[in-house]
Amino acid sequence: MSTRVRTAVFPVAGLGTRFLPATKAMPKEMLTVVDRPLIQYAVDEAREAGIEHLVFVTGRNKSVIEDHFDRQYELESTLEFRGKTDALRELRKDLPSAGQTSFTRQQEPLGLGHAVWCARELVGNQPFALLLPDMVFKAKPGVLKQMMQAYEETGGNVIGVEEVNPEDVSSYGIVARGEGPDSGFEITGMVEKPKPADAPSNLFISGRYILQPEIFNLLSEQTKGAGGEIQLTDAMQILIRTQKFTGVKYDGQVFDCGSKIGFLTANVVFALDRPDISKDFRRALAGLDLSISDER
Ligand code: G1P
Repeated sequence: MSTRVRTAVFPVAGLGTRFLPATKAMPKEMLTVVDRPLIQYAVDEAREAGIEHLVFVTGRNKSVIEDHFDRQYELESTLEFRGKTDALRELRKDLPSAGQTSFTRQQEPLGLGHAVWCARELVGNQPFALLLPDMVFKAKPGVLKQMMQAYEETGGNVIGVEEVNPEDVSSYGIVARGEGPDSGFEITGMVEKPKPADAPSNLFISGRYILQPEIFNLLSEQTKGAGGEIQLTDAMQILIRTQKFTGVKYDGQVFDCGSKIGFLTANVVFALDRPDISKDFRRALAGLDLSISDER
């Protein structure tokens, strides 16, 4: 039987340079899709999958993330005074319980592998989930929950993957697919940001992982990879020699909210799906003079 996954790590130290000036003083993880910050989507997904301990690897200028997961008494009492009980209930529902969150800092932006390594003392010697909050999913059940189902059968390490346009492979980690169904197939190798000609498939690592703690030893060697950064994919490519890696081509779709196009698309898709605003939003869109075609 595999050891239960209780802890999730959220790397939130990135500078968000692609969203300047919005991210000059505000963390990119607080950008909203409709009215929920990106980080809230990742936390919701983790809690849905049964995660009990939320570890945030933050950096300078990120303390508002900590505040977001704390109570806000002034706001709560104002909502109560005004009788806005629904809004109050929603706010409380989003809040992790006392003691469920931990925060540490990545002092220098040395790459995703380094950010994950910064969580080693808080995670300890147990398997953990890793969620990159830029990546927001439309999926039911949530992607991490789907991956947990695979993990219960296979143990080891599990990576969520989705198909990407072959010309975009060089923006992501790409896996080589071995035997097995979409719900859990063998991963035989992986490479970070390959050139299209070198990509082993068009299945990209979309920011959801279940990892064994041995990854920390490999990350501690801190070898630099693609882009001069300490890459998680490189450490996993070493771990695969001794541990099992399973790919899950989950049911659902990712929006890469680290890119402007992905972020804007997510806002449209999520707004169209929100019962409280979808009708009005649809009407507003229909009223615009949008002759949408991909040429201009
Ligand atoms: C990271 C990972 C990459 C993964 C991507 C998903 O890259 O290194 O393997 O495909 O996240 O967003 P980054 O976006 O930090 O360049």
